[in-house]
Amino acid sequence: MHFSIAGTLELAPLSPTFGVDVLNVSAAECAASPDLQALLRAAIAQHLLLRFPEQAVTPDDALALTAAFGPLMDLRSASHVPGRQFLQVLSNGIDADGKRCGDGNNSAQIWHTDAGQWDVPPGISVFYGVLVPPSAPKNGYKNMAQVYAALPQRLKEQIQTLKAVHHMYPRSVDVLVHQKGASLPREQREVGQVQPLVRRHLGSGAPVLYLPSRRDSVILGMPDAASRSLLEELWDFTNQQHHCDWIATTRRGDFVVFDNTALVHNREGWPTSERRDIWHLVTEGEAVTPMFTRKTLNLNSTASVVSEAPAY
Ligand SMILES: [Fe+2]
Repeated sequence: MHFSIAGTLELAPLSPTFGVDVLNVSAAECAASPDLQALLRAAIAQHLLLRFPEQAVTPDDALALTAAFGPLMDLRSASHVPGRQFLQVLSNGIDADGKRCGDGNNSAQIWHTDAGQWDVPPGISVFYGVLVPPSAPKNGYKNMAQVYAALPQRLKEQIQTLKAVHHMYPRSVDVLVHQKGASLPREQREVGQVQPLVRRHLGSGAPVLYLPSRRDSVILGMPDAASRSLLEELWDFTNQQHHCDWIATTRRGDFVVFDNTALVHNREGWPTSERRDIWHLVTEGEAVTPMFTRKTLNLNSTASVVSEAPAY
């Protein structure tokens, strides 16, 4: 089934609930057209992920099209296309002088949201396939609004006003680091950005489950054991919600634009001997808005939800 927005964009669903291919216009055309960009902003608010399949995109196109979704952000620690401040390169390649061509990482990664440890995490994220090897890994995307909707009511009520500290941990999303990386002392895990476990998706108003990737993250007001147990329960539930996933190889030329505020992503690993280059761009998002506050609970609550008098 294909459908169109205002008869202009031809979109083809990639999964039952989110993600579409953009079929009748190229990424380069969209990079040059404010009218098409307005339609794309409406499309991503609704569909959360747009793929322009098998494009030929220049650095200028990639920068212009991504900037249509928000202010470009510079991930300073990343490698860049030379001279292009906002155009990061994810690559495990090594050049003739033995220098890394990118971040030097070909590890499998667990489900995660990008940069929850920042006060304003990325809103829109882009992957563009530049060099794709024979054993190309798959990238996964999971709709965390849909995961939240599937949570048992008991968990929804338990987590609605909880907050977690997203702390810094080197390469914390690598599968092996996730499995084997030792916990930092609690006082270090208490340093980071405090974020709600349930955020409001500002495009749709939907509640989104928003989890730190480290299971040893601190939930405010909880001792370590209880905090870890709850985060493990929430991630175990999330991992089982395969109906919320869209998983595909990023092919050479695929230009994938996705909403980092509503989706988590992951990837498979691939052989070190095979070079893969992906351009990566991000836009500034928003300070994370909690879905539930004491005041909204009082406005909308049933008696079982609110047990304290409001604090004004
Ligand atoms: Fe990521």
